[in-house]
Amino acid sequence: MTESIAQLYAEIEAATVTNKEQLEQYRLRYLSKKGAVTELFESLKTAAAEDRRALGQQLNSLKNLAQDRFQAFQEAVEASEQTASSQPPVDLTLPVVPNLMGTQHPLSIVRQRIIQIFERIGFNVADGPEIETDWYNFGALNFADNHPAREMQDTFFVEKTDTPSQDVLLRTHTSNVQIRLMEQVRNSPGGFRPIRSIMPGRVYRNEAISARAHCQFHQVEGIYIDRNVGFKDLKDTLYHFVKELFTKDTKIRFRPSYFPFTEPSAEIDISCQICGGSGCNVCKYTGWVEIAGSGMVDPNVLINCGIDPDEFTGFAFGMGIERITMLKYQVRDLRLYFENDVRFLRQFEGL
Ligand code: PHE
Repeated sequence: MTESIAQLYAEIEAATVTNKEQLEQYRLRYLSKKGAVTELFESLKTAAAEDRRALGQQLNSLKNLAQDRFQAFQEAVEASEQTASSQPPVDLTLPVVPNLMGTQHPLSIVRQRIIQIFERIGFNVADGPEIETDWYNFGALNFADNHPAREMQDTFFVEKTDTPSQDVLLRTHTSNVQIRLMEQVRNSPGGFRPIRSIMPGRVYRNEAISARAHCQFHQVEGIYIDRNVGFKDLKDTLYHFVKELFTKDTKIRFRPSYFPFTEPSAEIDISCQICGGSGCNVCKYTGWVEIAGSGMVDPNVLINCGIDPDEFTGFAFGMGIERITMLKYQVRDLRLYFENDVRFLRQFEGL
């Protein structure tokens, strides 16, 4: 009988239970009234009287083992059933959950690209206020008070004052940042240091909203001031920029123009990206489209910022991000940029 007890002991120790059915099997086999342990207790009656005490002890510890194990199995089965039922059933026939990751706005993509190109040739990025005094937006940039050039950049006024140069307005270009940079250099303790910066930012103009004009848009302007900066540097820089941003075989031309703050001034045209120069409605059948204004910084502007024009020269340029994005991605209507229509925005996924 000792043998049978030992055998059963080993069997119970080796038993495994992973679900409810197996738990019931275990109970029937070892713990029920007809179970193996009970059976052995029955046969104790027929054992020799002197062995009964020892056998009884062995049987009791067998029974305890069977009960302890049962309890442990029961708890484990219950716990695993609970976690299983708290998870939703997996239905592999359901359509996949769509990936709703956002996309970058086309204007952000192009702005980033412009910054990247200029950073690689040593320009840093400068920032300044969108609400500005007349002085920083017009006066310091050599716009005379009643000069018609102001008309081309009519804007929204936040405050009219008794001193027109102190009127507060929404900036019409990011050239205000150029003035602020030059002032900083004038005031810097170490004296003059070269400026080579671009200034991306939002600008405003009092324009009726249409496919080709908006009252808000974005610019990247740039300025380079140092000793011996010439028109050649302006051309080299913008040639490089255009070929990087568009394609290596894009053609560029400088067309004489006028800005109060540059002299000489030039408008920069590139060969039409849509028709390649043969003529289409985007380039109005000229083969060229304008992308930027540029020029050598007018000596009056340098003087306004306390920089000696006999010692220092520089060039400046400015372009509209909306316009460049239109050419790069063939966007036909400016208003699309500000409407947040996902059907439009999704087209720039993965760029
Ligand atoms: N500030 C001009 C504009 O907004 C662009 C420009 C910048 C032109 C620098 C020449 C030099 O239209």
